[in-house]
Amino acid sequence: MEEARRRTLQLVEPLSDDELNRVYSPILSPLAWDLGHIANFEELWLVQTVGDLEPLNGELGRLYDAIENPRVTRNELPILRGAELRAYLEDVRERTLDVLANVDLESGDDPLLAGGFVYELLLAHEHQHNETMLQLIQMIDGYEPVETTVLPEPTESIDRPEMVHVKGGTVEIGADEVGFAYDNERPRHAVELAPFWIDRAPVTNGEYSEFIGDTGADPPMYWEPEGEGSWVRTAMGRREAVAPDEPVIHISWHEADAFARWAGKRLPTEREWETAARGADPERANLDQLSYGCARIGSYGDAPSECGAIHVLGDVWEWTSSDFVAYPGFRAFPYPEYSEVFFGDTYKVLRGGAWATRRNVIRTTFRNWDLPQRRQIFAGLRCAKDEA
Ligand SMILES: [Fe+2]
Repeated sequence: MEEARRRTLQLVEPLSDDELNRVYSPILSPLAWDLGHIANFEELWLVQTVGDLEPLNGELGRLYDAIENPRVTRNELPILRGAELRAYLEDVRERTLDVLANVDLESGDDPLLAGGFVYELLLAHEHQHNETMLQLIQMIDGYEPVETTVLPEPTESIDRPEMVHVKGGTVEIGADEVGFAYDNERPRHAVELAPFWIDRAPVTNGEYSEFIGDTGADPPMYWEPEGEGSWVRTAMGRREAVAPDEPVIHISWHEADAFARWAGKRLPTEREWETAARGADPERANLDQLSYGCARIGSYGDAPSECGAIHVLGDVWEWTSSDFVAYPGFRAFPYPEYSEVFFGDTYKVLRGGAWATRRNVIRTTFRNWDLPQRRQIFAGLRCAKDEA
């Protein structure tokens, strides 16, 4: 928990109070809201639910409820700012540590406590908000990260990655009963899968530029044309030529779907994606934020999944053709607002995590979801096609 908080504070360390309070996009909260919400979620689940204590300030729960307060309204709220906000983060943490010191996480009686579930939930929540915060941090001119890591160089040069074959059959999908996973990843269940082909690597900027040239499609978010057929990308106020051998990022589901059809392929279903991802190693992937960008394709060429796919975890979330729906036998846990209220045909599933995802958030069974028109999420794609 200390490590998670250190990262949260490190991300906002270079920013002024004015930058924390500013609204950069109607679909992103001001960073001050995210920070207060992280502390409030901790207070709600650890201090109030597990510790059975009264909140420090009962009003705050209403302000930081993500469902009740759409992002566009969050800056109008009397949320905590500046020194008050920092004090709240610290006060909640102090009370949380008191509660944790006196709680039995090993006894199996309360499902919220068993195996430390509530503690994992808290960690995952803070980690996931870090990713949302980075969506906004990219829009801040002149942002200087406190700490960065250097990505490996490609071990092979991959011009146009081929497809790899997955033989299908009866496959198990979802997380088993052991270890932390969200309710929407369970229960694990068997499905029949027809054999299929899937791209060995995510679609690159080079391939996507060809698609734009051919169809007149919009460029990804943050791209601007510079001369005939060449592009520059601006993030955190820095303009750089678009690297042709990096995965394309910040495209919507509609754009991903159109690209796949243009290429004579289709988006994979999430079952296909999960099956192709089997054996992918989160330790050998561009995850955990500090690269502040995608790796060139081939940088993790020596860490393929079982079927031979590369860059499966990390770099970009990959859009799938699947709607976000419940697995057969689904049970909401610990609260319906995590997944259940989003089930239906409104949201599309994304898989695999991006460079901006904390490493221990991601699993091959992890399901992310977003609206098909959204591009602020760190999303790209890899295509599939039927065997025949
Ligand atoms: Fe949240």
